[in-house]
Formats: sequence, structure tokens, C-alpha cells
Amino acid sequence: MGTISEEIKKRRTFAIISHPDAGKTTLTEKLLLFGGAIQTAGAVKSNKIKNTAASDFMEIEKQRGISVATSVMAFHYRDVLINLLDTPGHKDFAEDTYRTLTAVDSVILVIDCVKGVEEQTEKLMEVCRMRDTPVMIFINKLDREGQNPFDLLDELESKLQIKVRPLSWPISIGATFKGVYNIYDKELNLFNPNKTRIEEEILQIRDLGDSNLEDAIGLKDAGVLRQDIELIEGVYDKFDDGLYRSGHLAPVFFGSAVNNFGIRELLDTFIRLAPAPRPRMADKRLIEPTEEKFSGFVFKIHANIDPRHRDRIAFLRVCSGKFERNKFFHHVRLGKDFKFSSPATFMAQEKNIIEQAFPGDVIGLYDTGNFKIGDTLTEGEKFMFKGIPSFSPEIFKEVANTDPLKSKQLEKGIEQLTEEGLAQLFIQQNGQRKIVGTVGELQFEVIQYRLMHEYGASCKFLPIQIYKACWITFEKPEVFEQFARYRAHQLAQDKDGRYVFLAESPWMLDTMIKDFPDLKFHFNSEFKIA
Ligand code: G4P
Repeated sequence: MGTISEEIKKRRTFAIISHPDAGKTTLTEKLLLFGGAIQTAGAVKSNKIKNTAASDFMEIEKQRGISVATSVMAFHYRDVLINLLDTPGHKDFAEDTYRTLTAVDSVILVIDCVKGVEEQTEKLMEVCRMRDTPVMIFINKLDREGQNPFDLLDELESKLQIKVRPLSWPISIGATFKGVYNIYDKELNLFNPNKTRIEEEILQIRDLGDSNLEDAIGLKDAGVLRQDIELIEGVYDKFDDGLYRSGHLAPVFFGSAVNNFGIRELLDTFIRLAPAPRPRMADKRLIEPTEEKFSGFVFKIHANIDPRHRDRIAFLRVCSGKFERNKFFHHVRLGKDFKFSSPATFMAQEKNIIEQAFPGDVIGLYDTGNFKIGDTLTEGEKFMFKGIPSFSPEIFKEVANTDPLKSKQLEKGIEQLTEEGLAQLFIQQNGQRKIVGTVGELQFEVIQYRLMHEYGASCKFLPIQIYKACWITFEKPEVFEQFARYRAHQLAQDKDGRYVFLAESPWMLDTMIKDFPDLKFHFNSEFKIA
């Protein structure tokens, strides 16, 4: 092991994000293949659920258990240690993805060249913009009849609200796809559909006027490529890696993940350009990764839903200093010290107990219920890392107990499952009334299933008309009291005791915002830390 700064320089921690079906799982698998972390294709299990049945979801989760695929895949590529964080494939679990994005230093966004920018892509990009996360774009499935690449670039800029800059360029598309020209390295990468081989045929073309180009791709395509590149160089500024690293410019690559095409180029550029672990804001000050003292935060809690293995793992991103096994660290929220005897990392798909970990690493800590998402561990200093936002859920339902003898179990189950981040909990009437909010219907089924199987409790979810949850802050308590009297039945508290207005319609929300100018209405919970 080197010094902390040497270890930091070696690391790249990122996530792949995409609209379902664009190719996230395939790209993940190919990156692992290129990194030598797996030997054969098919080793990475998709975590998407083709139809939205809770039973399918449960089955997949059981098989996965607390496994590599649910959290982080670490592998070496050249002299870099890559930590690839996994994000759920199902849109109903988008909130989980948003939280994972707080633990990465950059992302690779996969776009299907036939479908272009899709709904989920836009939402994910919004989260990246909130913290200026650097984004690299991989346009996938070039072996299909996709859209014109110039149109795709325009669509990326307008829908994702980020400047883009192609660093590679496709030669034809679909059935006549011939390969890509790497603008950055001035190389021609010839396409040879092949799902198993990982070598690519690469020709160095230092000058596009070179007649080798015609020999390789034919007269017509050579002409089009020269024109396209001239246009690109005319329209787009020279690639500025500083702008990329500050989250304002996204380099774009083209390829076909299933055919192993364009992956090496993406990976090589990624390790060169993507940022190493970056400083992070805490409530009191900025924490530099190079600081000697350890700090980190929990961004995900995973419970094994197999009742035979009832364990829970808190995933912690190391932000500064060095984490060490069996050393006492300070749990800031609880004000208590804890040590961890079997912290795990996930190298080359194997879970290993580690002795130490460095900034950028993600470690799994066995947890008996001490951790909540957002918790900070330090070497004693009292600060909390910022920026684990909750957004307003889309669907709200009231919890109704259907087994009065098991009310304690139900209470505990709802509390723990929402702590895991499966859904958001809003309470009214001192906890007598509980409202659960989620992004999709699937989560309600999952909660019901898990309450039954893990806590022996059963409940019904009653639909209620709520349009949006808004967090409320105020400077004048008397104004809030007036609001609370007037809107008592729509006021709730979240899991941290913060006030939330559950507006039943856009009209009602607008009216309240107008009628109570002294109250602040926030559309995500990050205000506390922003
Ligand atoms: P996701 O994780 O983003 O949801 O997508 P995933 O990788 O599972 O890919 C979705 C589908 O797209 C898969 O097909 C996959 O094989 C296919 N795919 C990925 N990359 C490419 C590509 O470069 N070209 C083409 N033509 N297809 C690609 P599927 O039929 O849903 O699954 P499978 O039966 O192939 O596993």
C-alpha cells in the first residue's frame, strides 16, 4: 500500500446509469471482462425485472442476497483501481439510484441510439447536475438502425441540459455500421461483430487525408467521415477536460456493448479523464480526501431478505484518510464509537474481509441496526456529510394494520424498511397515522411481502390523494403555527422529524406558497444541508 495520496490517485469511483434496457448491465459486464474481473460473458446478473411482479423481484433479490452485484464491483484496469457502484435497474427504485449517485465521483451514462434520451435518463441527469457530477456518455447499440448521430447530440444537449463533445464518431450505422473514428487519439476502430472476442482491430490514422482510410472503409464512407469530422471540429470547441471534471461538458463515445465494441476506448479514456476521489462538503467544512483522519458516510443499507440469513450491511463510502479494521470510529449521529471486525470489499466479484480502505472505496459493514442512510463515521470530529437528498415520492398510501396482535412488529418493520430507504415514511398524529410514499407501485408489494416474511406483520395500503410532499422551513414560528392550525390534516413529519406539507393538488400547493410567503417550501430534503 502506498501513501494516502498515492492510493487516492489510483482510484476511480463511478456508476453507470441509463434508462432500463439501454445496456447498463451489458456495459457493466463488458467493463468487468476488460478489467479481467470476470472471464466469461453472462456472469453479471441483470437486476432488472422484466415485468413488475413483486414475486419476480423477491426471487432476484433472494438469489443476489447481499452480494457483489447489489453494491459495488471493484477491479483493476491497467494501474487503476476501479470501484463501479451498481444501481437498480427498475425505475420504481430510482430513489436508491439517486442515493448511490451521492457516493460516486463521476458517471457513465448509456443511451440507446434508437431511442435517444428517455424519461429516466433525464431524471438521473438532473441528480448529476445537482452536484456537478462529471458525466461521460456512451451511445450504445450502433449495430441497430439508430438516429443520426448529429441529431442525437442535439437531443442530448437540449434534453439533458449539458454541453456535449464527441470524442469518437461512428462510420455509418445499423447493418452498414463499420466502426468508429477516435477523435481524441486519431485512431480508426473497425467494427467486427463479435460477442465473445475482446480484441478490436485498430488502425492509427494520424491524418484523415491518408489513403489508408479509403482502403479500410471504402470511398463513400471515407468521404462522409472526413466531412463529419470537419463539421465537428468547426461546431464544437476543443475538448476541455476541466469543463468535464466540473460537470459542465460531457464527452460522447459511440459503440455496441453487446459486441464488445468501443468498450476499450471508453475505459481507456475514462481512466485518463475521470476524476480521482474528490473533496466532499460536510455541514461544518469541506473534507479533503488527503486528510490524515478517516471519514465516510453510509449511502445504502441492504438487508438480506432471505429469512435464513437475516443480516444487514451498511455500505460506506470512504471520503478521507484511512479506514482500518478493528479500530474505533465515531458514529456522529449517535455520539458513540464503534469498531468493525469484518469490513468487506468486493474485488473481482468476491467478498473479502479487508484490513484497510482508502478514499473512493466502498466497504460493507455488518450492522445490527445502528446505521441509517446518511450517517457519518469519523475519527472523532463532529460533522455530517451533506447531500443525501430525498425527493417527493410519487405515490402515497396510508398504512392500515390488518393484524392487531402484531402492531409492534408492524411498527418495527415499517421503521426498519424505510430506514433502508425502500420508501419514505411520513407520520401524523404523533405516529398514530403513518403514510408511506414511494416512486412506484412495486415498492408497496415489496414492503407487504417483507413485512409478512421478515416481521410476521401484515398490513393494507389505503390510497390517499396526495400530489406532492414539500419540506417546510420557517423563521417565524407564529406563521408556522398558523399554517399548522389551518392545514393540520396535511401536515406530517418525516423520519428525521422535519415538517412536511402533503399537498393534495398542484393548485393547493400554489395557493399555500402564495398565502404563506414567510414559509419556505422545498422540493427535496437537501435544503437542510444545501
Ligand atoms: P439495462 O441493464 O440497461 O436494462 O440493459 P441490458 O444491458 O440488459 O440490455 C438490454 C438489451 O439490449 C439486452 O437484450 C441486451 O442484449 C441488448 N443490448 C445491449 N447492448 C447492445 C448492443 O450494442 N446492440 C444490440 N443490438 N443490443 C444490445 P435483451 O434481449 O433484453 O436481453 P438478452 O436476451 O440479450 O440478455
